[in-house]
Amino acid sequence: MSHYQKPPELYEGLRLHQNENTGGCSPRVLEALAKLRADQIGFYPPYAGATDAVATYLGVPADRVTLANGLDEGIMALAVAYLRPPIGGPVPEAVVPEPAFEIFRFDTAVAGGTLVQVMPRPDFSFPLDAVLAAMTERTRVVFLTNPNNPTGVSMPLDAIRTLAGRVPHGAVVFVDEAYAEFAGVSFISEVASYPNVIVGRTFSKAFGLAGLRIGCLVGSPDTMDPIRRAIPVYSVNVAAAAAIQAALADLDHLNGYLRQVAESKALLYAACDRLGLTYVTSDANFVLVCAGDRTSELVNGAFARGVYIRDRSSEPGCAGCIRIGAGIVDHTRRCISVMEEVLCATR
Ligand SMILES: Cc1ncc(COP(=O)(O)O)c(C=O)c1O
Repeated sequence: MSHYQKPPELYEGLRLHQNENTGGCSPRVLEALAKLRADQIGFYPPYAGATDAVATYLGVPADRVTLANGLDEGIMALAVAYLRPPIGGPVPEAVVPEPAFEIFRFDTAVAGGTLVQVMPRPDFSFPLDAVLAAMTERTRVVFLTNPNNPTGVSMPLDAIRTLAGRVPHGAVVFVDEAYAEFAGVSFISEVASYPNVIVGRTFSKAFGLAGLRIGCLVGSPDTMDPIRRAIPVYSVNVAAAAAIQAALADLDHLNGYLRQVAESKALLYAACDRLGLTYVTSDANFVLVCAGDRTSELVNGAFARGVYIRDRSSEPGCAGCIRIGAGIVDHTRRCISVMEEVLCATR
């Protein structure tokens, strides 16, 4: 089952299970959408304005930016471009340090590549040696996420430099920076020096545009060329192209949300300490909480009370772990009071 289908279509409850922005987008986005004219909707969308706005925000020339219908589409295009087995040739391999965003596994399978999983360390710190050992001459993609999902743990940028220097010719290192705004760290300023590194960004999380679907890939035009060919023409719609420009013009909204997330994480850590739950300190907008044998009670009890949190037990190294989104402080307080209620009720 896709990670987007569980639980289904629940807009009434408190959605803390997909790392979305619980505060929503900037009001300027709504104004920009309301101003769209009939003729703009009638034509295929122009992208220069949106691409320039994204490039300026990320501090790179516009020819290094490829917009996509969500970063998910960018990842699928990257898999199609780099992991399809050539006729009669060796099957390309994708190295995935686990636990990871499950889409890397799905897209590798869809493209026909071979998945090479690297198992996590107990503290989820980046296992550089094991990733290097997993690489072969058939490696075509190394999938990284910084900070990682579902752990929230960051990796050292030096590990990306090392991997970029060691992957075989023709392979790419993909750095998924879906949560980079929350960590305040990015590899993007270095992509000009590492032509085999592609960075992925999304505007679903920090900017609250998940429903409109817009993300991007950043990298050298040559490395990006096969990926661009795999992205459908006009895959980003005119509303998303208008929305991203409005969102990037309101960085106060972004910064306000980043403050809410930081406070929410501190509240969650304190609640876990009170409740006797361990957790992984996170650089993202969610916290991986280790509830052990209380995991199902907590997830199901919260679900029954309209608060959706995500059981990650089936992910490598994550037995007994729940991922909880940390967004608007009032939402986090509600989640914490539900966690307290459930755990007290089941004692
Ligand atoms: C690591 C990672 N990459 C990409 C995405 C998808 O981003 P988008 O909404 O832009 O498709 C997510 C969403 O959960 C994610 O966690």
